[in-house]
Formats: sequence, C-alpha cells, structure tokens
Amino acid sequence: MIFKHDILIVGAGLAGLRAAVEMAGIADVALISKVFSTRSHSGAAQGGIAGSLGNEEPDSWEWHMYDTVKGGDFLTDQDAAEVLAKDASRAIYELEHMGVPFNRTPAGTIAQRAFGGHTRDFGKAPVKRACHAADRTGRVIMDTLYFESLRKGIKVYEEFYLLDLIMKEDKVAGIVAYELATGAVHVIHSRVVLLATGGFGKVYKTTSNCFANTGDGVYLAYRAGVPLEDMEFVQFHPTGIYGMGVLISEAARGEGGILRNAKGERFMEKYAPNLKDLAPRDVISRAIYEEIREGRGIDKRDFVHLDLTHLGKERLATKLSEISSFVRIYLGLDPDKDLIPVQPTCHYMMGGIPTNLDGQVLDENQQVIQGLYAAGECACVSVHGANRLGCNSLLDLVVFGRRAGKKIIQELESLAFASLPDQSDKSTLTKIERLKRRQNGEKAGALRTEMQETMTAYCSVFRNKKDLNKALDILKSLMERYENVVIDNRGFRFNTDLMEAIELESLLNLSYIILVSAMTREESRGAHFREDYPERDDQNWLKHTLNRKTENGYRLFYKPVTVTRFEPKPRVY
Ligand code: FUM
Repeated sequence: MIFKHDILIVGAGLAGLRAAVEMAGIADVALISKVFSTRSHSGAAQGGIAGSLGNEEPDSWEWHMYDTVKGGDFLTDQDAAEVLAKDASRAIYELEHMGVPFNRTPAGTIAQRAFGGHTRDFGKAPVKRACHAADRTGRVIMDTLYFESLRKGIKVYEEFYLLDLIMKEDKVAGIVAYELATGAVHVIHSRVVLLATGGFGKVYKTTSNCFANTGDGVYLAYRAGVPLEDMEFVQFHPTGIYGMGVLISEAARGEGGILRNAKGERFMEKYAPNLKDLAPRDVISRAIYEEIREGRGIDKRDFVHLDLTHLGKERLATKLSEISSFVRIYLGLDPDKDLIPVQPTCHYMMGGIPTNLDGQVLDENQQVIQGLYAAGECACVSVHGANRLGCNSLLDLVVFGRRAGKKIIQELESLAFASLPDQSDKSTLTKIERLKRRQNGEKAGALRTEMQETMTAYCSVFRNKKDLNKALDILKSLMERYENVVIDNRGFRFNTDLMEAIELESLLNLSYIILVSAMTREESRGAHFREDYPERDDQNWLKHTLNRKTENGYRLFYKPVTVTRFEPKPRVY
C-alpha cells in the first residue's frame, strides 16, 4: 500500500513524541514505531532529566553548559550545549504542566538530585540538578507525551519497521516500511521524514539497551549517502548488573551509593578525588576496569560492588524502587542488605546522523538535506561530545525534538512532495524474497553473537590498534558471511526471524564504522580511550570524525568543533 502524509516521524521515543506534540494539529503528521510505541527505549530511562532549576540549591545554566562541555571532553559543540542548558528549565516545566509526575521537595517544587559530572560553580562540587520521578523518569515522560500526541490526533502506525529511506534527487520522498503483523511492505510518501530511531547498543554483548536498538535509521541514512559523525564515541555506563547489563541507575550513586572493590575500598576516591562516585561515566568505567586489572575485582573476577546498604529502606523504596526490584528479581539480593555486583555496560552512542541545531540533517558539505531531519540518540547535534553526562539525554530528546518539530513546521510550505521513484519498494521486496528463498547458509543469531563478542572483546572501554585490527578482520568476514544468512520462518505474520536478519545488516555495518573511526582517532578523549595513545591531543584531534559511504567502501573526513565560551583544558575531577 502507499500511504501519504505531510510529515513522517520514525520512532516513538521521546524525541519523536516531543516533535509530534509540537506539530500535531498544524500539519498531517504520522509516526511509525517498530515496537508498540510505549515500549520504545526512552521508557527505560531511569535516573532523571537535567535542568538548573535550583530547587534544592543554587544552580545556573552556565554551570550546566560548562559541565556538558567538560563532560564531553571538549568535543561538545558549545552552541549546542548552550541551547541545551539554557532551554532546560523551560522544557522541564513544560513537561510538568503536561502532567509528568515528578518527585517533589517538601516545599512542593520539583525534587532534584545529584548526578555524575553535574557540578556547581564550574566544577567545584556536585550539584542537585536531576529532576526525577523515582527511578522511572523516562517511563513517565514517555507515557505523558504519548497520550498528549494521541490527544492531538497523531496517526500512529504501530509495529511498522523502517526498511528503506526513499530519496529523489537529494530530497526525501518517504520511506519503505514492513508491517510486522501482516508481513506487508508499505510505502509512506511524505514531504518530511524525521528520524528518531534511537541508538544501537545491540552491537555489544553487554548492554543496557533494549532489543529494538539496532540502529536502523542511522544505517539507512548512511546507505542513502549521509555521513555519520563521531561514531567512535560509545558510552559504557559503569553500573550494569553483572553478566546481564541491565541498568542500575546512576541515581543510586546520586542518592549516596558507593562503589567498592574486593578490599571494600571506595576506590573512586583515588581516581576522582573531588567528585568520587559522581565523576562522569567514562572516568568511572575506566576506574572499574583498572581495579579489575590490578586484581581488586570481587573474587578476582571482572566486577565490583555497588553498596546501597547505608541508604535505608525508605529511600530505596521512594527514590530507587525500580532498581531495587531489579536487584531482587534478577539477582535474588536485597539492596538494603547485600552488595550489588556491577560492571560497565554499553549504554549510549554519542555519534550518529549529523544535524544542525534544528534537527536538519547535513550532507558532506554541511548543507541541509531537504526534508530530512533527525533528533535524539540517532542524531549527532554534538551536544554530548566525546562523553554524555547522565540526565542530559532525556533533556536532549525533548529540547531538540521540539526544535526539530518547530523547524519542520516553519519549512513545510517550501517542502513539496518529491515524486516517488518508480517501484520505490522494489529493492526491499527483492531483499525479502531473497532471504525467504535462500535454503543454505548461516543463521543471523550466530553471526550477531560473534559480532557482539568481537565488539565487546576488542572495542569497548579500552582500545588499541592490535585489537581494533583483529576486530576489523572479523567484522569483514562476518559481513561476507551475512550475504548467505538464512531464516527458518518464511511466513508473513510477526516474522521476527526475518526482521532480525534485516536488523543484522545495520548492526554489522555500524560496528564496522565504529571500528574504523576508533582505529583512526589516535588519541584518548572521553569514552574513546586508546591504550596506545593515552593522552588527549587537541593539536591534532580537536575535530569531529565523519564517515561517508562511497562506491568502494567509505571515506573519512573531519570538521571543526564549535568552541564559544570554554577553551579546552585538561579534565580533572
Ligand atoms: O543512570 C541512569 O539513570 C541513566 C541516565 C542517563 O543515561 O541519562
């Protein structure tokens, strides 16, 4: 079938929903989501949303901007950080007025707590900046925005999976989507496509990301000729449940939790004497692995302990109820009495589709691609630089999702429907047919496991040339083997076997791009730590990586970082 809408949003996380709310009622807006909308991964966000409301103690947007730039190891584009920090209070009060049930101070204002890397007075000490609803902040914001967008009349296509981006003479013409319930392939013809497809933590074995985070939008943009920015910067959250990766929110440390090694020592005192357990994630993840390497992992194994036993039942129940239940359910432990085994888990991608401050996607010449927008984790407005601070993600989603929505409405008059190319779904149908017909080959699951193990072993918190080379060789062979991937299910209804085989193409290609970008950046900055180049090198590397697909592979090139207020200096915590 061919559907037609002025504006099509791909993805029902907070970026997509916030943009939808902005545009609803003004234009004909539709949204597709590969999962039922409220199962989008933003709903898993726990700890909070950052904003210098100053409800608990003095705070200012300049301090927030500084922390965001410093947290990003000065790769953050400072115009973007300024927009984020300045707009935060407005964005949070707007959510409150829509009905988000934030926790309250005794005075009845929105409660705030400390979070990693957020400080007062340009780095002096932690500040309470994270607005939260217990440890279910993403969930409540998502439900609020979802109902708001439905109330405003958005058309939602649930469980429609993006399979292709249709471009006509460098303009967007729409998308091709797979309807999971029926197996039908549809074309959605539109004047605008806003990609809000989230991250791709599923390239790693241990991740806090949900199964849907396979980077389809990012890969399809790349395939359509959009360069990808800063793909080497992958964030590992320090406290995933050991062996599972399920997130134990940083809010646990914001409320006073402490990381301990096998000797029971509060080891972060050594690595970040000022912020300790509230240092940024890249610093803490490396510290955990240092402890493990030096033999102070618990029982000489590859995890440390998170100690919440001193927080008290009341605080665990009111502020950390979600993670307390995770600890009970997944580990059979009581956070009030037991230490929690944790290890770093892949959490967030700083890189993605390059955009300007209004979500317009940029081509290799930094020119706007007509009709194509991106917001949220799939985008790289470069507000997080080389390492995102906790609670800046939910803020990014609502601030830049809204800005994209506003810009789309402003530009809509000038964006006509591009005519659909003949048989715009042909290559997609051929791909599906081929997959369904193939009788012999390897299963997607086996290839995916190999890919995830490779990325985890050779390109996670610590990296070096030898390991990255090894990973690149393995990835090349996996991509060749993918050409013969087979599926068992040849049916139409809810064919997740087929869907997972297609998702694997995105994951393999994105892994490869992460590897080549990481291999090329010969310095250490933020989440990208090269053991063979352990220093940050502003002279040669204060620049953004861009990777564009070419006929015979890819081309890497660079663009400068926007520095406005804060000159790069060494990061000390
Ligand atoms: O730890 C957390 O609650 C995660 C928050 C974030 O990634 O922003």
